[in-house]
Amino acid sequence: MPDAYAMISEEESASGLGAAFRAVRDRTLALTAGLGPEDMVVQSMPDTSPTKWHLAHTSWFFEHFILIPLGGGKMWRPGWDYLFNSYYEALGPRHPRPARGLLTRPPLAEVLAWRAHIDSAMEDLLTRDNSPELTALTLLGLSHEQQHQELLLTDIKHLLAQNPLRPLAATAPRGTIPSLGWIDHPGGLMEVGCRSGGFAFDNEGPRHHVWLAPFQIADRPVCNGEWLRFMADGGYSTPSLWLSDGWARAQAEGWEAPLYWYQGEDDRWWTFTLEGCRPVDPAEPVCHVSQFEADAFARWAGTRLPTEAEWETAMQHRFNPGPAFGSAIRRHPFSMNGADAGGQVWEWTASAYLPYPAYRPAEGAIGEYNGKFMSGQMVLRGASIATPPGHSRPSYRNFFPPHARWQFSGLRVARDA
Ligand SMILES: [Fe+2]
Repeated sequence: MPDAYAMISEEESASGLGAAFRAVRDRTLALTAGLGPEDMVVQSMPDTSPTKWHLAHTSWFFEHFILIPLGGGKMWRPGWDYLFNSYYEALGPRHPRPARGLLTRPPLAEVLAWRAHIDSAMEDLLTRDNSPELTALTLLGLSHEQQHQELLLTDIKHLLAQNPLRPLAATAPRGTIPSLGWIDHPGGLMEVGCRSGGFAFDNEGPRHHVWLAPFQIADRPVCNGEWLRFMADGGYSTPSLWLSDGWARAQAEGWEAPLYWYQGEDDRWWTFTLEGCRPVDPAEPVCHVSQFEADAFARWAGTRLPTEAEWETAMQHRFNPGPAFGSAIRRHPFSMNGADAGGQVWEWTASAYLPYPAYRPAEGAIGEYNGKFMSGQMVLRGASIATPPGHSRPSYRNFFPPHARWQFSGLRVARDA
């Protein structure tokens, strides 16, 4: 298998780039199964996007960056560049992000027809052109679409959670807090960043040296049972545990538990999931916490968040998403049973999202993909149950503002040795 296909799962890449293209595009549509047209139009907050917009924007990416410049194609409809360009300043003005939910037109059916057109045009192009440029841009387009698959799930979860008629409750196994061990790392001069040969986003390189002091990192993420202890011990009402910005945000938004948790009439904590509401399972990795909350928890526990270099160094040979990356589309973290529980929740780090030494974004609009977001955001490592199969890797750098909670985000603690 060519290394360039490493970002696609083995199953998807077995038949080459064309098959990988079809598999990724089909998976996006599969994620919308069970949604009605109304579900796909509404935007629940400025940070989220409607499902219809995700479906359109991912198609726009292939049209704008591949089919028009490399395939001789034309824009499907005039003006759609304005509607579905996300953030590429070099491509001109755009519809404001917070108003994406106001786009009742074009209708869903036309967006789906556009997707089908893009699919056949891309598949046709891939059969007659195997240039390195087309391969590289197609891999970028597929990785981009996989990022939107995860966003689609987190955004639809946030939207459905606004509905006061909660979905039917589902029973869930209630585990006990799993044991926690520590991984020792001696520190020293280490290398981090993507290696050459496989696909990686530009922000994962260049590979470079870092100096690490000796440290320990937990062998699993923090679980709900531990988070319940943090809450019971006044974690959300003790300002000395919090960074100032985090405390201000927690007060302003009334945080007293992770996002989507609520107290049922039985006084137990329950959580809203895409598989129905259920009592909080103490053995699941805690999910939907901000970096501010993760930092406060770590301080309460007498630990700290790992830096991204510590995480990558310690986890690069242990990162094994396991069943969370299976072919089934999972919609909620599951109980940890003592085995490696990585890959269920993205793990916040203590590292600001900054360029690596000698990082240079690409020329032109595509250079806006990552580099311009290196301000005011924190790095998350790993993968979540919503991350598409084969999409992540140990060098992968996810990033969100420290107050963001709607992603499938948790934490793993570390401490100085
Ligand atoms: Fe995008």
